[in-house]
Formats: sequence, structure tokens, C-alpha cells
Amino acid sequence: MAKNVFEVKTVSYRYQDAAGLDGVSFVVAAGEKVALLGANGAGKSTILKILDGLIFPDKGTVVAFGENLTEPALNDEGFATAFRRRVGFVFQNSDAQLFSPSVWEEIAFGPLHLGLDPAQIRSRVEDTMHILGITHLKERPPYHLSGGEKKKVALASVLAINPAVLLLDEPSAGLDPKTEEFLIRLIGDLSRAGKTVITATQDLGIVPQIASRAIVLGEDHRLSGEGAAVDVLADEELLREANLVHHHAHAHNGTEHFHPHSHVEEHDHH
Ligand SMILES: Nc1ncnc2c1ncn2[C@@H]1O[C@H](COP(=O)(O)OP(=O)(O)O)[C@@H](O)[C@H]1O
Ligand SMILES: [Mg+2]
Repeated sequence: MAKNVFEVKTVSYRYQDAAGLDGVSFVVAAGEKVALLGANGAGKSTILKILDGLIFPDKGTVVAFGENLTEPALNDEGFATAFRRRVGFVFQNSDAQLFSPSVWEEIAFGPLHLGLDPAQIRSRVEDTMHILGITHLKERPPYHLSGGEKKKVALASVLAINPAVLLLDEPSAGLDPKTEEFLIRLIGDLSRAGKTVITATQDLGIVPQIASRAIVLGEDHRLSGEGAAVDVLADEELLREANLVHHHAHAHNGTEHFHPHSHVEEHDHH
């Protein structure tokens, strides 16, 4: 197996009316635990969609498992099936991912399409529901569940395929603290099991637990930094420039400072 899961080289992507990514390059090695950081609109989801072969760069190249990830390559059924088995994508919005009449069928969908026999499918679905703690939900329609339950079902539907690589788009957004903690622990478990886990997030607080390396996208849609997660988190200037921390977040070191982001005061003046 190729040592690198992904090799992204000078990738640019434009939506009809907006820039998505501008000349972004990075590599993800097999088994790495990576955080993709950036403010709203920086291009995190665009990168994950490109890594999942859902959209294709206007410029630059993406190599996945040693092969070019292109539209023609994914039109080849053999390549596409192999790729879809290896890479699983959990969308930020669970509603966009869930479509089956019951949780059981939702989780069975992937294994069914892998061509597993009914007994194997049943054990895959049951094992996955057990790991996620959602066995009691198996007959419920996914669209009636709470946000945290939906997230677990979406994760289960991806994990049931047993992909080597997981792409998680802001997985902790909107979760209650207990579900968030569960998810963070799960990411650790998956990583220890040898999976490559790439998580897009703007929640710096969870980064030490979900990543050993961090890639930072600036608001200009370019790569603004990368390195060991601890080093990136300690780089205040990088985080400020990427709009991941407020100016005043680090201004209380004994001296008085001007606070450029005092939203409350601004409102009081009007
Ligand atoms: N489907 C789309 N159509 C048009 N513009 C989009 C679309 N998706 C994202 N964008 C724009 O591309 C930029 C990058 O978006 P995105 O990758 O979603 O950022 P992030 O996930 O970091 O918040 C943003 O300016 C966003 O408005
Ligand atoms: Mg996003």
C-alpha cells in the first residue's frame, strides 16, 4: 500500500461565484490523525469534498493511494468501488447524509452495496450499532432523531463500510458535551485501530485530542500553515491571521490592551 493516503498539489477550486481553494498543497500519510483548521468559508469542506472525489480541482492534482484521483478515474467502476471502500466521508449536516426509512437500513446500505451476504451484513450492522451505542434506535426513522443521534447514525453508516480513511466535517458542531466527548474518544479509538482520520474543525479546544498534525487554511483560501498540532496551537499569530482566535483572546498578560473585538461594548454605544 502507498505510504501516502493523499498527495494534494497546488489545488485550486472555484465555485461559480466564489473562490473555494487557491493553490493548496499538502500530504497525508497513512495512519495520520490530522486537523484541518480554518475560519468559516476558508475552504475546509471544499478540501474534504475534493479528497472524497465529489468535486475535482480546476488546477493542480490529487493523488489518492498512489493513483490520480480524477473524474475519469472515478468513472471506472472498479476504481470507484475500491476508492469508496477505502474512504468514508461524514458530512457536517447529517440530514444531507441520511435517507433511509430506518436506522438499520441506513447502516446496512453501505455493506449491501459492498456485496456482502445477508449474515455478514447483519453482523456488520449490529457490531456498528453496538460500537456507537445506537442499537435501541434501529427501527427509528433517522430524520426523527436528535442532532446527536443523527450524527451517530451518519458515523455508523460510514464505519459499517470499514474504510481506512475517515473524512469528518466539523463532527462536533452542535453536539451536546457528552456526545462530543463520545465522538472525540471514538476518533482516538479509530486512530489507534490504524485508520487515517482527517477532521475539519474550527474548534481549537478539541484539536489536541483529535489530531497530531494540523493544517491551517487562511481566509484567502490558501494554506497558511501546518505542523505538529501543539506547535500550530501555540502559534498565536498564525491563528489570529486565520481568524481562528480573537485579537483580545490573548491580550490579558498584565498590561492593558485595546480590544478590537469587544462586540458587547460596540452595541452599548448605539
Ligand atoms: N456550493 C457552493 N456554491 C458557491 N460557493 C460555495 C459553495 N460551497 C462553498 N462555497 C464558498 O466557497 C468558500 C469555501 O467554502 P467551504 O469549503 O464550505 O468553507 P469552510 O468549510 O471552511 O467553511 C466559501 O466562500 C463559500 O461561500
Ligand atoms: Mg465547512
